[in-house]
Amino acid sequence: MTTVKTFRRVGVVGAGVIGSGVGHLLAQSGHEVVLVDRRPEQLDTARGWIARNARLFGFLRKDLPPADEVLARIDLTTDPEKLAGADFVIENITEDWEMKREVHRALDRILSPGTPLAANTSAIPITRIAGVGRYPERVVGMHFMNPVPVMPMVEIIRAVHSSEDALRAARTLVADAGAQAITVNDSPGFVTNRVMMLMVNEAMFLLHEGVSSAADVDRLFKTCFGHKMGPLETADLIGLDTVLLSLDTLHLEFNDSKYRPCPLLKQKVYAGLLGRKSGEGFHRYAEG
Ligand SMILES: NC(=O)c1ccc[n+]([C@@H]2O[C@H](COP(=O)([O-])OP(=O)(O)OC[C@H]3O[C@@H](n4cnc5c(N)ncnc54)[C@H](O)[C@@H]3O)[C@@H](O)[C@H]2O)c1
Repeated sequence: MTTVKTFRRVGVVGAGVIGSGVGHLLAQSGHEVVLVDRRPEQLDTARGWIARNARLFGFLRKDLPPADEVLARIDLTTDPEKLAGADFVIENITEDWEMKREVHRALDRILSPGTPLAANTSAIPITRIAGVGRYPERVVGMHFMNPVPVMPMVEIIRAVHSSEDALRAARTLVADAGAQAITVNDSPGFVTNRVMMLMVNEAMFLLHEGVSSAADVDRLFKTCFGHKMGPLETADLIGLDTVLLSLDTLHLEFNDSKYRPCPLLKQKVYAGLLGRKSGEGFHRYAEG
């Protein structure tokens, strides 16, 4: 895992649920990581998550480096200018078009033209994001799965202008990190989330209409279909705010009412019950 890497220094923008996992995976596989978030308190939270998870995964898999070694490879910073020295950059900020546009404008200025740039989003078309900068050919989608350091697959998205070099770079980085990749063409939600967001939203409607309890909805999916997690547990793991933003994007992009978010989901988000990261969503968790 710690052999010579194709991309020595990787920039990861956004240190939330998924960005902290991407930073962890890359550091765990021997990369130097610059992990940027605009909120210093989120960097503290991310450091805590990575330390806890690295200890846990190190206990389960003896081939992984110790937690202090993983953390030593990560430069947690609020300064995006530090991305200038990165060989590859992955953007993972909030699922909000206006915010993504602002960050991609900044990345266009900071990065040198040849640096491959990946956008990690749940549903926003990669072609739209690629259009923000002057070099759309270097932009690809990299849809990581949560929890990133243990999920074996990354969905890579080919936008209209993505070059073969940029796609190859993304696949190489994934392979160097010890994971697999499947490449799909650009479409809102790609393959995974176009289907999965519909499923979790419909599960919320079942709860909303009183057809079943949250525990029973999840148990039915696990025991009947062999799913490792039920749809409401999955939504809690993703983060209910991110699920809501993703459904809003799918609704807007397809102009199809089948993606209208369940009112119960909106209510949970308004109440700050965001799932695992806040300690409660459709289920309660011991820690956020
Ligand atoms: N949560 C998941 O399971 C999951 C899975 C795959 C992809 N994604 C996608 O990854 C992205 C991040 O999702 P998340 O769940 O980590 O969200 P999150 O809300 O947990 O984290 C987003 C982070 O981005 C930071 N941020 C916002 N603007 C920034 C800026 N200008 N510069 C630096 N940092 C900034 C925020 O402070 C926050 O820490 C979204 O596009 C989401 O759709 C999420």
